[in-house]
Amino acid sequence: MPALTVEKVGGRIGAIVSGIRLGGGLDAADVAAIRAAAHEHKVIFFRDQHHLDAESHEAFGRLLGDLVAHPTVPSVDGRYALGIDNEHGGRANQWHTDVTFVPAYPAFSILRAEVIPPYGGNTLWSNTAAAYQELPEPLRVLADSLRGVHTNDYDYAAVRPNAPSAALEQHRKVFTAVTFKTEHPVVRVHPETGERTLILGNFLQKLAGFNAPDSRALIGILQSHVERPEITVRWQWRAGDVAIWDNRATQHYGVDDSDAHERTLRRVTIDGDVPVGVDGRRSVLLSPESVPEPRYGIASGASTDGEVAEKARERAAA
Ligand code: SIN
Repeated sequence: MPALTVEKVGGRIGAIVSGIRLGGGLDAADVAAIRAAAHEHKVIFFRDQHHLDAESHEAFGRLLGDLVAHPTVPSVDGRYALGIDNEHGGRANQWHTDVTFVPAYPAFSILRAEVIPPYGGNTLWSNTAAAYQELPEPLRVLADSLRGVHTNDYDYAAVRPNAPSAALEQHRKVFTAVTFKTEHPVVRVHPETGERTLILGNFLQKLAGFNAPDSRALIGILQSHVERPEITVRWQWRAGDVAIWDNRATQHYGVDDSDAHERTLRRVTIDGDVPVGVDGRRSVLLSPESVPEPRYGIASGASTDGEVAEKARERAAA
């Protein structure tokens, strides 16, 4: 294999990593290089990883941290991987950061493409560290002081107005089997890079201390900075591609424009830390009292303060 190379795709976000065959047997130097590239470029892409299957996808994921299961959506075939396909109702056509309705939401997501439609079905990512940095200063100061309530119980029909109502209802039933509410700082300090990043996206329901219209207006202003094309990248999938994103520093959007064509991806998520705001205040689970164990594996969101970053530092030092 040639040495690993990293080529930028966009000015503020995205890079293609070549010269590496992903799997559970990578050495520590390669894993450290992948981790560093994900931190720097926020989302990194690997082509032609056709050899990966459910097992080796997970084995590779374990090199980046502990795997965590989705808190409500059952995994595929009793494994950790979440199915993102027509059958599992997985159309992620809204800007979001994965699983922000729990406190310690995932640090990384690893998405592997199995079947890609003949057209459409691209994914967009945005750099939420750049979004924060490029806010006008008075807005940055305001954002630093805000906290927001995130929930998985949002208006599904508003996001997918053309979806058949029975499919929507089924998706909603599974997704909200337990209703979570978590208060996060709007600005978190990244536990590994120290960057400030915005925690917004589709699971954000309301800003604490504001009435509904003010909250909606403020969220709209902040979110519009995340969606600026200059800080986004758009990926046109091929089967065998893998994307890894730093879920603490990005939002993403799966474009739902491939009609009824099959689109099958599998997503593995890596445990994250409880976010900490610029004032040192941590995120808090408002309801239920704790994150229940899912049917398989440990739940995303159940980790406690500082645990995950500490493990990452130990891994890097080993
Ligand atoms: C996701 O939200 O993880 C999936 C994105 C996509 O379907 O492109």
